[in-house]
Amino acid sequence: MNITFRRMTLEDVPAVHEIDVLSFSLPWPERSFRFEIAENLASRGWVAEADGRVAAMLVLLLIVDEAHIATIATHPDFRRQGIGERLMIEALAAARTEGARRAFLEVRAGNLGAQALYHKYGFVVDGVRPHYYKDNNEDAVLMSLAGLESLNAQLAGKMIVQSKTPGGT
Ligand SMILES: CC(C)(COP(=O)(O)OP(=O)(O)OC[C@H]1O[C@@H](n2cnc3c(N)ncnc32)[C@H](O)[C@@H]1OP(=O)(O)O)[C@@H](O)C(=O)NCCC(=O)NCCS
Repeated sequence: MNITFRRMTLEDVPAVHEIDVLSFSLPWPERSFRFEIAENLASRGWVAEADGRVAAMLVLLLIVDEAHIATIATHPDFRRQGIGERLMIEALAAARTEGARRAFLEVRAGNLGAQALYHKYGFVVDGVRPHYYKDNNEDAVLMSLAGLESLNAQLAGKMIVQSKTPGGT
């Protein structure tokens, strides 16, 4: 399987939205992805393509020296093949070159798979926002990663980055 990583474009939005719907109980409206790509200057959308098919997506917000992972999901057909982690690292590495020094995210307390992914790359738990998710009252776990430099070092040689024309902002 040939996997490539590139910035999300407006043409990707239907496939990205499909992944979102398959992955979350509270998916974003499709127009939110279009807004992030076309209008939000702080937003960096990324996709992984597997043999030409959008296999995973991520949206990151770059705010001064902070990278906030707003969403990340891998299509169910492509999970547990290392695509999500490579997409996350690609996006964080790019954010670092734009000046990000710390990364932040929130994750459902019951989402142990995603938490395992974040722990694997050094994210730590900063706190809990009780009853944050409105559909089931689930707590949000707040996680962060300081020192994006060391993340890059950790992954040197592991990433296979094939950049295409950046889309969006
Ligand atoms: C979380 C998610 C993005 C991971 O994507 P993925 O492409 O399947 O993940 P990877 O194959 O790159 O896994 C990387 C690491 O994450 C962890 N991980 C991923 N899925 C896991 C699972 N179901 N159970 C336990 N650990 C898991 C493991 O540590 C794994 O490393 P390993 O294979 O060496 O054990 C994917 O499961 C998903 O889309 N889930 C639904 C949406 C979601 O919950 N997003 C996160 C919101 S905060």
